[in-house]
Amino acid sequence: MTLLNMESAVIPVSGGASGIGLAICKRLRAEGAIPLLLDFNAQSLASAVREVYPEASADARYGYLLDVRDSKAVDACFADIRRDHGPVTHAVANAGIAQGASLLDITDEQWQQVMSVNLNGVMYFCRAAARQMSEAKRGAIVTTASIAGLMVKPERIAYTSSKAAVVNMTRSMAVDLGSYNIRVNAVAPGVIETAMQKDKPAAVLQATRERVPLERLGAGDEIAKVVLFLLSDMASYITGQTIVADGGLTLRYA
Ligand code: NAI
Repeated sequence: MTLLNMESAVIPVSGGASGIGLAICKRLRAEGAIPLLLDFNAQSLASAVREVYPEASADARYGYLLDVRDSKAVDACFADIRRDHGPVTHAVANAGIAQGASLLDITDEQWQQVMSVNLNGVMYFCRAAARQMSEAKRGAIVTTASIAGLMVKPERIAYTSSKAAVVNMTRSMAVDLGSYNIRVNAVAPGVIETAMQKDKPAAVLQATRERVPLERLGAGDEIAKVVLFLLSDMASYITGQTIVADGGLTLRYA
C-alpha cells in the first residue's frame, strides 16, 4: 500500500469527458482507482470512457450520462453508481462552463446558465456524494474552482462570481462534513490548455503565457496531480482549502 492509498477507490468525476476532468480520470486510473466519468455530452463521454478504460468489457459501466444542473438526475445517478459499484468514498465536482459578459451586458439567461452549472451543479453533486460518504463516515471531495474565484478579470461577471462561490462553498462543506470524517478541498487552476481555451485568439494565449512566471500554460495532468493529492491520505489533515495551481500567474502585480 502506498501513501496515496487510492487502489480500487470508486470516484465519480463530473465533466469527466473532456479537458481537466478527463485528465483527472486518467491520472486516477493510473493510480489504481476506478474513476467514473459523469458528463452530459454523450459523444465525448463514450470516447473518453474508451480512453480511460481501453481494456473494459462491454458489461462494465464507467460512464454515466448526467446533466449536473438537474438535481433529481444527480441523485438518480448516484443511486445508479451505488448499485453498480457500491457507496462512493471519493468524488470530484469538476464540471463547469465559462462565459464572457460584463455586468452592464449580461442577460438573465447568461447569468442563470453559468450559475446552474458552476454553482447549483457543484452543490447537487457534492450533496449526493456526501450523503453516501456520511454513512461510511469516511470520504474526500475535491471541487474545481479557478483563480477567477480568487481574483477577477474584466467581462467575466458570472464566471468569477460562481467560482468565488465554489471557494466558499468548499469551506462550508468542509465545516458541515468534518464530523463525518469527510474532507472537502478545492483546486484553483490557472490557464490550462483545454477546450475551454480553444476559442481564445492565439495572441491572447501568448500574452498569458508571457505573464506566467513559469512561462507556459498548464496541462490538465498538472491539475489532476493536485486533485489526486487532495483526495488521497497524503492530505489527511487538509480540509476546506483552495490550492492554487497556476504556474505563479496570480503572484504578479505587473
Ligand atoms: P472543458 O470544457 O474541456 O470540460 C468541461 C466538461 O464539463 C465537458 O466535458 C462538458 O461536457 C462538461 N459539462 C459542462 N456542463 C455540464 C453539465 N451541465 N453537466 C455535466 N457535464 C457538463 O473544460 P475544462 O477546461 O476541462 O474545465 C473543467 C473545470 O475546470 C471547469 O469547472 C472550469 O471552470 C475549470 N477551470 C478551467 C480552467 C482552464 O483554463 N481550462 C481554468 C480554471 C478553472
